[in-house]
Amino acid sequence: MLAITPLLDKENNTPLYMQLYKYIREQIEGGMLLQGSCLPSIRQLASHLNISKNTIEAAYQQLLAEGYVESKARNGFIVQQLEELPRPALLRTKPEASSSSNISDKNDVPEIRFDFRYGDMDLSRFPHDVWKACLIDALSERTNEVLGYGDRQGNPHLRAEIASYIFESRGVNCHADQIILCAGTQQAISMLCQLLALNNVPIGMEDPGYDGVKTIFHHHNCKLIPIPLQQDGLHVELLQGSAAKAVYVTPSHQFPMGMVLPIQKRMKLLQWAKERKALIIEDDYDSEFRYSGQPIPSLKALDSSDQVIYMGTLSKSFLPAARLSYIVLPQAVLGSIRSKLMSYSQPVSPIIQQAVLLFMRRGHFARHVRRMRRLYQSKHKKLLNAISYWMGDRVEVIGDRSGLHILLDVKGRNSSELIQLAEQGNCRVYTSQAHWNDPLQCPASFVMLGFGGIEESELETGIRLLSLAWFGAESGNISQAKNIVQ
Ligand SMILES: Cc1ncc(COP(=O)(O)O)c(C=O)c1O
Repeated sequence: MLAITPLLDKENNTPLYMQLYKYIREQIEGGMLLQGSCLPSIRQLASHLNISKNTIEAAYQQLLAEGYVESKARNGFIVQQLEELPRPALLRTKPEASSSSNISDKNDVPEIRFDFRYGDMDLSRFPHDVWKACLIDALSERTNEVLGYGDRQGNPHLRAEIASYIFESRGVNCHADQIILCAGTQQAISMLCQLLALNNVPIGMEDPGYDGVKTIFHHHNCKLIPIPLQQDGLHVELLQGSAAKAVYVTPSHQFPMGMVLPIQKRMKLLQWAKERKALIIEDDYDSEFRYSGQPIPSLKALDSSDQVIYMGTLSKSFLPAARLSYIVLPQAVLGSIRSKLMSYSQPVSPIIQQAVLLFMRRGHFARHVRRMRRLYQSKHKKLLNAISYWMGDRVEVIGDRSGLHILLDVKGRNSSELIQLAEQGNCRVYTSQAHWNDPLQCPASFVMLGFGGIEESELETGIRLLSLAWFGAESGNISQAKNIVQ
């Protein structure tokens, strides 16, 4: 038997039976009272709600008259199937779509076949079984280190593995003691803001720059100073001329524009930090996926005066769901915040840390990164070839040397129109506006395409569909696409 507990208002002008009737009707329509369920008996409900049996009886009779319930001898009032209900016209009327609302009827939403969302990874190539074995083995270690809160800075053995990984792959020479494990980049930035008391500190930030980090700085009341970019990355002279006491940069793959900061600018940036006694926060988020040119060492690798805080994440190279990133603190900074650090508990589950440690120690991590680099390189090449073939000089690719996304300048067009047309063509692309300090400064013709999550064999079809949606059958190549795509 169901329990029904509506909020009935005796002071309200609407009679109580009407309030009760409406409440039950809404519950039936909303699917909370299912077909075949039995309403409470009149006596039970009257006693439960402390109102007269006549009131309950009147409400039930109304529901009966409208076909919401059926009366069965000995069983009482039974809820009827919704489709068969003779619904009053009033209830069928859909609310008028407001002009500002873009929520459309579910049936009107086109099915998205290609979602070019930045951040999606190719999970089909993830070694699930191996990872599962590492998780099970991690759980088998019944130590306090794995099943308790864990070390405040993170599992020391995992920190040692990470230290040797970033030394080999990025030239970062640090001790495991300088590393703090964090639950992703945003949490790492938040932690830095708290540990280094960055609130009210003027911080330079690439403009455009990563919105995910900008938001956290804002929430910590940091005084952000947008520093424009040049063709080859951060405008270092403008940083030098600013009041910034720290700067957040993505030198190995500027986000979202994709350029690599050349060595001369890196040296200038380090010089600025040395002279100003300023801090550089280097976000080296996807350096594993570099597809052309010589690998450039990280800024931290060149940091002779120990002024760079280096940040890395396992979201791109391993799994976003691990929620595992790390920061490498300069020795001097570490000394100054060590006592504060001791009041923070470690945010990454020690079980996950242990499993990642096993995954790394057993050689799976290095193998996985190598495999994924090859895969993404091949996807990247396919993407660029398809863009060049299907879209030609109507577009310009921005940031085409590394990473898992590109920006596309669709010349003379507008991103909101492009996004809408893409949806009609069963594709989803994104605006990059949020990454600009003033979103209106983001060129209207830019859209952002992440390609990590799209099947390699499907990439070309995805680009053809986009091309068709944006340019119609204007070009020879595109008119062929119609036949191939369907
Ligand atoms: C610039 C930048 N840094 C870091 C990250 C990764 O963040 P997280 O470690 O929270 O997954 C991303 C995006 O995924 C990014 O674009």
